[in-house]
Amino acid sequence: MTLRAGIVGCGGISRSHATAYANLEGVTLAALCDINPAALNTRADEYGVPNRYTDYEEMFRKETLDVVSVCTHAPLHAPVAIAAAKAGLNVLSEKPLSIDLQTADQMIAACKESGVRLAVSHQYRFTPIFRHAKEWIESGRLGELRCIREVGKGREAGFELMEMGVHYFDEMDFFMEGIEWIHAQITYQGHEVGAEDIMHSSALCKTDRRDNGMVAGDTMMVHLGGKHGASGLIELYRRESTQGWMMGPHILGDSGQLMIKPNPQTGIDEMWHCPFDVSFAAHTPQWERVTLAKEAFLIDGKPWPDRHSIWSVRDMVNAIRDNQQPELGGANALTSLECVSAVYESHFTGARAYLPLRDRRHPLVKRLADHPKTKDG
Ligand SMILES: NC(=O)c1ccc[n+]([C@@H]2O[C@H](COP(=O)([O-])OP(=O)(O)OC[C@H]3O[C@@H](n4cnc5c(N)ncnc54)[C@H](O)[C@@H]3O)[C@@H](O)[C@H]2O)c1
Repeated sequence: MTLRAGIVGCGGISRSHATAYANLEGVTLAALCDINPAALNTRADEYGVPNRYTDYEEMFRKETLDVVSVCTHAPLHAPVAIAAAKAGLNVLSEKPLSIDLQTADQMIAACKESGVRLAVSHQYRFTPIFRHAKEWIESGRLGELRCIREVGKGREAGFELMEMGVHYFDEMDFFMEGIEWIHAQITYQGHEVGAEDIMHSSALCKTDRRDNGMVAGDTMMVHLGGKHGASGLIELYRRESTQGWMMGPHILGDSGQLMIKPNPQTGIDEMWHCPFDVSFAAHTPQWERVTLAKEAFLIDGKPWPDRHSIWSVRDMVNAIRDNQQPELGGANALTSLECVSAVYESHFTGARAYLPLRDRRHPLVKRLADHPKTKDG
């Protein structure tokens, strides 16, 4: 049976989803939707999609689809996903799942009620290099896992948390098999973030158009506790040059380290190994590149060597075919967003925030409501 896929939101990331559906065997990209006719027609022409809509409710009503990718900005993920669920469609939402846990819970409830799947598209964990690194950790090749470190690309931390931070939480959740708590410190223009520093993402980050709801802080240090005792460290701060190759985990065990970073020239991930637990510029045994056989990167006979969305799209497509849950479905869909809320909760309480959070309200919106005189962006 050929699965029929649709996409809502025809901007940047939609190309990656469209390429995935167009290349996976047994899937057809049947319909696209965008409120902007120019964006809609550009993407639809590129992939030869005849069925075009400017209203997603109409697309869900008129088309017989099996799965829809939600590729709009974050505040629209929940309304689009809930409408898709009510129409009986499986939903693959771009990250972040939503802008707060309340609306994310509503997405999950709507999908559960309709008996459809909901997953969030953190594609990194599905790539062969990340799977290979996990095998190394599990086999004890790095000794006992101690720490995983990540840095942001250089946008203001409150914004970056919703863009790259959620990916990093998902990586850490994958490698550590669960995140238990978060402890975070946030500053803005050199002072500790208070309720008066809460603002809309467009006010905080002027260099990126994406809407990430209410955010706070230009600098963050996030420390998290993994299920088996390892730590995660995420540093997000504004820097002049923003470079894609800065992203990627540095994994430290007590007898070795792995680094997965995109090559600055090609943007394609490389995995490097050092057989020692710490590194010093001049005194450490050499880092060596770990390469995988070319066959590891093939999907339906074609190579996908980078962090392409096809890896998470394929997981959803396989789940539908095999009548299973996608790996990032169910409660797993929530983890990375739980971590975002926990960052703010921890900063404002000065204590560890344990997952899952009991208070499902947006931790910043809640604090703004308590301080009505502070700015709202
Ligand atoms: N997984 C990844 O690696 C990755 C990478 C980039 C972006 N993203 C995520 O994808 C999402 C979209 O980002 P982007 O860079 O593609 O944004 P974008 O601004 O390029 O595209 C968003 C599109 O949504 C359309 N849109 C707005 N309202 C709509 C509505 N009511 N119905 C239909 N379409 C509507 C806009 O017209 C626009 O074309 C964000 O949540 C972002 O964080 C994920």
